Amino acid sequence: MASQEEVFKKLVAHCKEYGFVFPSSEIYDGLAAVYDYGQNGVELKNNIKRYWWDSMILLHENIVGIDAAIFMHPTTWKASGHVDAFNDPLIDNRDSKKRYRADVLIEEQIAKYDDKIEKEVAKARKRFGETFDEEKYRATSNHVIEHQKKRDALHARYAEAMNAMDLAELKQIIVDEEIVCPISGTKNWTDVRQFNLMFSTDMGSTADGAMKIYLRPETAQGIFVNYLNVQKTGRMKIPFGIAQIGKAFRNEIVARQFIFRMREFEQMEMQFFVKPGTEMEWFEHWKAFRLKWHKALGLGDHKYRYHDHEKLAHYANAATDIEFEMPFGFKEVEGIHSRTNFDLSQHAKFSGKKIEYFDPETNQSYTPYVIETSIGVDRMFLSIMSAAYCEEQLEGGDTRVVLRLPEVLAPVKACVMPLVKKDGLPEKARAIMNELKFDFKCAYDEKDSIGKRYRRQDAIGTPFCITVDHDTLTDNCVTVRYRDTMKQERIAIEALHKLIGDAVNMKNLFKKIVQ
Ligand code: GAP
Repeated sequence: MASQEEVFKKLVAHCKEYGFVFPSSEIYDGLAAVYDYGQNGVELKNNIKRYWWDSMILLHENIVGIDAAIFMHPTTWKASGHVDAFNDPLIDNRDSKKRYRADVLIEEQIAKYDDKIEKEVAKARKRFGETFDEEKYRATSNHVIEHQKKRDALHARYAEAMNAMDLAELKQIIVDEEIVCPISGTKNWTDVRQFNLMFSTDMGSTADGAMKIYLRPETAQGIFVNYLNVQKTGRMKIPFGIAQIGKAFRNEIVARQFIFRMREFEQMEMQFFVKPGTEMEWFEHWKAFRLKWHKALGLGDHKYRYHDHEKLAHYANAATDIEFEMPFGFKEVEGIHSRTNFDLSQHAKFSGKKIEYFDPETNQSYTPYVIETSIGVDRMFLSIMSAAYCEEQLEGGDTRVVLRLPEVLAPVKACVMPLVKKDGLPEKARAIMNELKFDFKCAYDEKDSIGKRYRRQDAIGTPFCITVDHDTLTDNCVTVRYRDTMKQERIAIEALHKLIGDAVNMKNLFKKIVQ
């Protein structure tokens, strides 16, 4: 069986070969951690965005959307804390000249202790068979206890250093743990330094006095600075939310794992403004709602878990990630943060404007608290692709690669194929497609054998292949072949619209979320 790493490599190659994701400006050898979405990728991405947008805007009468500019007044980032605190601690290895995030190196070391523990447990499970009592073994095995002690001590020391952003201590942990550079294998480290992740550029000509501005590192601030505009013009009553989808930019030091960590990416964020004191209730509400949204896609409930933050961002009083099991382990796809009234208060302070809500029921004004749900489109894309990618052994020794995408997100919903390129079959196939195309993204394919055409559609996750044969001309029926089961069925042309429509209707997912 292929290792997870091999599967991931194949997935990345598949994304390129079938027009999902290309390295950016590839003819110039690409640009690190920047990617372009191809003809199928953009359809999948748009469908993901539509699923998210409608789940916010259609399902909630108290959530509205905006589309703020990427460029914002530079004081925004001073107020939000990003100029002073949006840093990663980085360290260089003098021999390999490679740069690493100090926190990532230490987290990987913690993961090594976890691995050692799990290996001990797995060995014992094998040795003792059915009688194995895992809980007892973990509590009594000397090896496990020793690893666990070291792990917990390291973890506590690391959490303290990160909370205090004690750079000397982070370096000392790396030294004490004898962490080596994966490239040079040496411990020849520089000191740990802070590195701001925001990209900057100049606005206006130098003669006019150019202004240094930043490419937004999160879309959220576009929502905060528009809080008053939306609340007043929309006559919004608390609790209410503002949703936005847009690009964000971060000069990531460790940029790897394909589209998982990019320097230009897209976020789908919703800020939910609530009365102070009710924020924990709403935090739990949005945690549950967002997990339901993910699970409704049917990629497998066991692939998700929550991860509560120990080190909180400078603005948060509670935070949880929703993690998804990628081929390289459980990884954050979405963050749900209780951001207190930090952002609105800061913008009030820096702008000199009063940013408050007048509660007509209590006749009191207050600065609302905020619960934020923040998900990366690209990470969502990657989690869906990795769950959908499947290499199957077929009867007769054949294999096929099939993308088992949720039908509703598939880039192409149906491919119409005349059995042969003559006898009026292409014309009939075109006529069918011309009816379906108003509602569904369809493809037409008349090249190669039907088997090859099926494989091409399997590889991009098309749920329905519709074959037009000679009988179609007289009985007005077609053969529908289903992607997942490969079963075929004879169906009246007039029944096609309902068949496809029922399968790709987002309402099916929304009902699972709100019921
Ligand atoms: N407004 C809050 C915020 O931006 P975050 O945890 O830094 O929080 C939210 O980012 C989400 O954005 C992450 O869960 C992830 O899905 C996505 N994201 C963050 N950095 C990313 C990167 N470099 N590449 C791709 N996606 C990223």
